[in-house]
Amino acid sequence: MIEGDVKKCEEMRNKVVVIVGATGGIGSALTLKLERTGAMLVLAARQADRLSQLSAAISDGQAIAVPTDITQPDQVEALMQKAIAQFGQIDALVNVAGAGIMKQFNKLEAADLDAMLELNLKGCFYTMQAAANYMKDKRSGHICNVIGILGKHSMPMATAYCASKFGAVGLSKCMAEELRRYNIKTTLFYFGGVDTPFWDGVSLKVDRSKMLRPETAADAILYALSAEPQAVPMEINIQPDSHLFF
Ligand SMILES: NC(=O)c1ccc[n+]([C@@H]2O[C@H](COP(=O)([O-])OP(=O)(O)OC[C@H]3O[C@@H](n4cnc5c(N)ncnc54)[C@H](OP(=O)(O)O)[C@@H]3O)[C@@H](O)[C@H]2O)c1
Repeated sequence: MIEGDVKKCEEMRNKVVVIVGATGGIGSALTLKLERTGAMLVLAARQADRLSQLSAAISDGQAIAVPTDITQPDQVEALMQKAIAQFGQIDALVNVAGAGIMKQFNKLEAADLDAMLELNLKGCFYTMQAAANYMKDKRSGHICNVIGILGKHSMPMATAYCASKFGAVGLSKCMAEELRRYNIKTTLFYFGGVDTPFWDGVSLKVDRSKMLRPETAADAILYALSAEPQAVPMEINIQPDSHLFF
């Protein structure tokens, strides 16, 4: 283990991290890296069976699985309450749940736009708001929102997805301004294409072999989470080194 990895382990030991979207490509890579640091993990996503498989791979007592649909604010509040009941505090929230609908704008239906806004924008709001309410009490915490480069740049076929992700950036930055006074950090991540199941259902011709690995994204999140207390990594942007689209 190199010196930097040892330091990350020390920083994260016994920290309570809620990972929303834990079963996804980036979320599961992050879960397995955080396990090695000794962090306490609260794993959330909708699919209970996949969550159980993931938590079974983690040492006894170090993780709980809480099936949660983040488009439902009552389920999000129940998730945070379970984290507090089990571990007594929430030190960090990692928002890494999301999905993409990619269509030409003239084929886009209102229901597609609603689905993107409900999940990628409002889901981000519900989780941030619920976790921050607990973090505020102890005047410390860290929220990591995995946005993606399509929260900064436009792309054909990505109208609804970009709308939700650009919105999530505005929402996160405004909330971050309010949260700073409670000593709560916010970090936004703008990854380019990451080779995960996200792309399984997307009807774009992409070269997945050129994408970032989910472990690279997880390393960046771990870097931000384990930054020294007085340092706030506000935005992290990592892109693949070549063009992904055919
Ligand atoms: N892959 C990329 O190229 C890339 C690049 C930049 C940013 N991102 C962003 O990174 C995030 C994660 O992407 P990924 O690549 O890891 O995708 P992924 O492998 O498809 O994982 C998506 C995760 O979101 C969860 N999820 C979906 N709907 C949910 C809901 N309503 N409530 C709770 N959890 C829900 C899924 O679990 P369940 O199905 O069990 O609910 C899963 O854990 C997304 O926000 C995505 O936009 C991805």
